Amino acid sequence: LLAQALRNNMIVPSWHEFVNEVQEIYHKCKPIQGGQVAQYIPQLARQDPEKWGVSICTVDGQRISFGDATTPFCFQSVSKAFNYAILASDIGADAVHSFVGQEPSGRFFNEICLDRNNKPHNPMVNSGAIIVSSLLKSDWSMSDRFDYILNEYKKLAGQEFIGFNNATFLSERDTADRNFALSYFMKECKCFPETRHSIREALDFYFQLCSLEGTCESLAVMAATLANGGVCPLTSEKCVQGRPCRDVLSLMYSCGMYDYSGQFAFQVGLPAKSGVSGSMIVVIPNLMGICMWSPPLDKMGNTVRGVEFCKEMIKKFKFHNY
Ligand code: DON
Repeated sequence: LLAQALRNNMIVPSWHEFVNEVQEIYHKCKPIQGGQVAQYIPQLARQDPEKWGVSICTVDGQRISFGDATTPFCFQSVSKAFNYAILASDIGADAVHSFVGQEPSGRFFNEICLDRNNKPHNPMVNSGAIIVSSLLKSDWSMSDRFDYILNEYKKLAGQEFIGFNNATFLSERDTADRNFALSYFMKECKCFPETRHSIREALDFYFQLCSLEGTCESLAVMAATLANGGVCPLTSEKCVQGRPCRDVLSLMYSCGMYDYSGQFAFQVGLPAKSGVSGSMIVVIPNLMGICMWSPPLDKMGNTVRGVEFCKEMIKKFKFHNY
């Protein structure tokens, strides 16, 4: 990094100007009110609505953070993107997509419905994510599967903070009637792979993945790994294979922001994934990964400040794909 910097060869050459502009956007978004912190489990309902963090990591490892960038939060649905990338790197995209489609559903993220092939619409909604979780090292024990995924997340994050919130996991499982109903419906439609694990275990693993924790800083590195073709910018380790890396970005672009994905693609034009904890990642391919975190959510379930930050950023920089 230092040698590159001395040669004035960095991916964002005028780094200080860039940082100043981003800082301005961060402060512009800070006073935004509106939206509601998720209420369905106490661990999320207790999140402070004033928390607001942004972190950026470029594909050559330049980094900057603003606000609450080192406070842990749980991944929730942001995990869906990484779980898919990890699985497709392991068993191949074609094997994954024999179980899960790639079309936006146009429905709520937890709706009990399948596509016209009787498969979940895509890996970014609950149905698809539950199938993806059940495919992850499906013949391993529950404990080995958990260790495996934790290790993969840490690789993606360049060994920065990845944790697990057991209280969130227990609460998720206690309030999971919808996910149980969805899973039994999928079982009836023969959506699950044949594995040694029960529906209860499939869901336990899904809830555990939702309850993994990171910070804006560690998630920005994970997003930067996706921006960098699957190679972690901090360690140079290959974490995601080339095709799955491209595929997950395509899916994030079309399905990553729930029922707001079309509008987000229109206005911001970048692959993104949000979660109910108020977290959100955006990937600018070949340039940088960004993580935003602010708990109040809009009606679609996306972080209010995070979405606004992206819109402001697009006004300042030509990051929109088109
Ligand atoms: O499965 C659930 O209901 C949640 N744990 C999903 C998480 C999520 O982020 C969906 N969100 N907006």
